[in-house]
Amino acid sequence: MINRERGDVAKKTNVAVIGLGWPGREHLKGYLANDKAKVVAVCDMNTDLAQQLAAEHGIEAYGDHRQMLKEAGVDAVSVCLPNFLHAPVSLDALKAGKHVICEKPPALDAKQARKMAATAKAKKLTLMYALCQRFSAETVLAKDFIDKGELGEIYYARAVYHRRRGIPGGSRSWFVDKARSGGGALIDIGVHALDCAWWLMGTPKPVSVSGMAFGKFAHLAAEGTTFDVDDSAFALIKFANGAALQIECSWALNLPGGGTIQIAGTAGGATMSPLKIHTERNGVQIDIDPEVPGRDAFAGQTAHFVECIQKRKTPIVSAEHGVQLMQMLDGIYQSSVTGKETRIR
Ligand SMILES: NC(=O)c1ccc[n+]([C@@H]2O[C@H](COP(=O)([O-])OP(=O)(O)OC[C@H]3O[C@@H](n4cnc5c(N)ncnc54)[C@H](O)[C@@H]3O)[C@@H](O)[C@H]2O)c1
Repeated sequence: MINRERGDVAKKTNVAVIGLGWPGREHLKGYLANDKAKVVAVCDMNTDLAQQLAAEHGIEAYGDHRQMLKEAGVDAVSVCLPNFLHAPVSLDALKAGKHVICEKPPALDAKQARKMAATAKAKKLTLMYALCQRFSAETVLAKDFIDKGELGEIYYARAVYHRRRGIPGGSRSWFVDKARSGGGALIDIGVHALDCAWWLMGTPKPVSVSGMAFGKFAHLAAEGTTFDVDDSAFALIKFANGAALQIECSWALNLPGGGTIQIAGTAGGATMSPLKIHTERNGVQIDIDPEVPGRDAFAGQTAHFVECIQKRKTPIVSAEHGVQLMQMLDGIYQSSVTGKETRIR
C-alpha cells in the first residue's frame, strides 16, 4: 500500500525513446507496461512519427535528441537508432547524466564500445545493451537449467541464424553500407545468435577468432545503394576456459533459412527454438521438452534496465559485455581479411 500522506510513493524512472522504428516502439511498449517507469518523451528525426506516438501517449515529441536531453527531464533513454549513431548518441546521453540502454550491435567496433563503457563508468551511470534474446522465455529457462548444473561443464556451442534471402533495403539501406552499419549479416543478426550462445555458455573470455565473411549477393541490394558488407559469415571463437563456439549466419545463402543455438556440456546439452534439454536418466539418453512460459522479451529487457537503475545493479548485458561482443565481431572481420586467426586481448 502506498501511504501518500507520508509521501513514500516509489519514485518512477523518467524514460524516453530515441529512434522509433520497430525496436524503438517495442522499447516504448515495454516501458508503458512497467509501473516503475514513466515515459516522458519520444524522439525521431521523422517528426510526424514522433508527434503521432507522443499524441497517443500524452507525452512530448522531439526531432533532435540533444534538445530532448536538455529539456525533457529524463533519467534514462533507449537509443534505438541506426548503428552508426549508437556511440555518439549514447555518449551525448551519458555526458548529459542519463542512463542508457542501446540497441544491438553495441557500436560499430570495440573502440567505440570501450569509450561508451569508460564514459558510463566515469559518470557512474547504467549502460546496458539491448540483446533481447537473453530475455526471451526460452533463454531464461535454458539459463536456469544451465545454472542449476543440468549441462555440467559447457565446452562447445553452435550459433546459427540464416536467412535464405533477407537483405534489409528500402529506407533501411544504411544496413548494407559499412560506414553506417559496421558490417552486414554478422553484426546485424549474427550478433543475436552469438550473444545468446555466449550468454548460455556463461560469457567466458574470448581469446581468439578464426572466420570468413562473404559478400556474394550485392546484386540483390536496392539500386543506388552502397553494398560493401558481408551477406554471410562463419567463424570459430575460442575462450580462455578452453571452450569453443561456432557461429554461422546469413542474410542471403543458397541453403534453407532458419536458426538454432546448441550448447554441449559434460552432463547434458540444450537446443533452442524449440528448447530441448538432452540428458540421461536411469542410464538412458532422454530429451526433455520443457513447457516454455509466455514472456515478452522486450518487456523483460526494459524492466531489467529500470531495475538496474533503481537498485544500482550491473545489467546482465553489461557495458563490458558490449566491448567483448564487439571484440569477437571485429576479430571475425579481421580474420576474414588477413586469412589468419585474430588474437583477442
Ligand atoms: N533487437 C532487435 O531485435 C532489433 C530488430 C531490428 C533492429 N534493431 C536495431 O535497432 C536499431 C534501429 O533499427 P531500425 O530497424 O529501427 O532502423 P530504421 O532505420 O528502420 O529506424 C530507425 C529510426 O531512427 C530514426 N532516426 C534516424 N536517424 C535519426 C537521428 N539522427 N535522430 C533521430 N531519429 C533518427 C529514423 O527516422 C527511424 O524512425 C539498429 O541498431 C538495429 O540493429 C534491433
